[in-house]
Amino acid sequence: MNSLTEILERRDFSLDEISFLLQLAGKERTQLLQKAQQVKNEFIGNKVYFRGLVEFSNICSKDCLYCGIRKSNQKVIRYNATDNEILEACRFAWKNLFGSVVLQSGEIATNAFAKRVEGLLRKIKQFSNNELGITLSCGEQTLETYQRWFESGAHRYLLRIEASNPELYYKIHPNNKKHSFEKRLESLHFLRKAGYQLGTGVMIGLPFQTIDDLAGDLLFLKQLDIDMCGMGPYIEHEQTPLFQYRHLIKPRHERFYLALNMIAVLRLMMPDINIAAATALQAIDPAGREKALAVGANIIMPNLTPCSHRKDYQLYEDKPCLDEDAAICRNCLEARIELAGCVIGYGEWGDSKHFQRD
Ligand code: 5AD
Ligand code: FES
Repeated sequence: MNSLTEILERRDFSLDEISFLLQLAGKERTQLLQKAQQVKNEFIGNKVYFRGLVEFSNICSKDCLYCGIRKSNQKVIRYNATDNEILEACRFAWKNLFGSVVLQSGEIATNAFAKRVEGLLRKIKQFSNNELGITLSCGEQTLETYQRWFESGAHRYLLRIEASNPELYYKIHPNNKKHSFEKRLESLHFLRKAGYQLGTGVMIGLPFQTIDDLAGDLLFLKQLDIDMCGMGPYIEHEQTPLFQYRHLIKPRHERFYLALNMIAVLRLMMPDINIAAATALQAIDPAGREKALAVGANIIMPNLTPCSHRKDYQLYEDKPCLDEDAAICRNCLEARIELAGCVIGYGEWGDSKHFQRD
């Protein structure tokens, strides 16, 4: 038995071991990726769950240095989908047995916003007879707001830590109160306290990011004992301050491979969590999400944002499916998911087994 085979049998790794695994190439890398898929199938099976993604507003009060819809980007046409548009997208998800939706927006922490989301949650639960699962991804909010949304029907929340090393965090965010690393951590704890299945994740291939940073990210996710993870490659956006450091980042295909390695290693470390095949993978490789499903991911988020708004929700360049409508997206997805050796869990919530076990 060689040392790699021995390491891959374990579920706990040191920082150095994780860094080693993340840098595997060639045959050894294939061994890692195959092991991750095997562990996934063993612990949670080969079902893939849909989360219909509704990006309902690109209005944002923050200025993350990497994000295309940051407040200071004056070139973005701001939109706020109507309640009717949002509910129609959710109805499409329900009728097509997607099982769940993700409501995502820029970060707005006003009472009016909290109230609006609460109203939407109640309506979605009502028309779907409680059948549609709801994940929220609306940034940092107060504990009260998180509780209010939980009571109104949301039961999962995604809030990426983006980078778990505070030094790196402040290289990709303005160093001010509005973008506090401490506050981000606190929000993750609030979410857990409020009762949500907790999802977080990071960007992979950022300027200034080292392999050890990424290994540290995986240890962070494990230590936080998350239920869900969404992580994908960083993709530069011309209208953001981080674009000036593009000479420091790895070529796109390397960021892509690294992202797949991250998914595979996380699957080994946390065999029963939900891991999303991030849309950003598809911005680099048209089959990127399916490739992630073949190495440990089990969640896919077909875009259900009303077509008229899609081009205005560009967090990064080359965002895919900008002009396809939801139905077409669904057909092309089905065939490709089966090619990845997975089956679709139609009409199921597909909650994190990790959360159920707690
Ligand atoms: N490249 C890749 N991912 C990005 N996100 C934001 N901007 C970018 C970018 N330029 C991710 C962040 C955020 C999620 C909604 O999108 O991780 O949490
Ligand atoms: Fe909107 Fe980061 S720019 S939350």
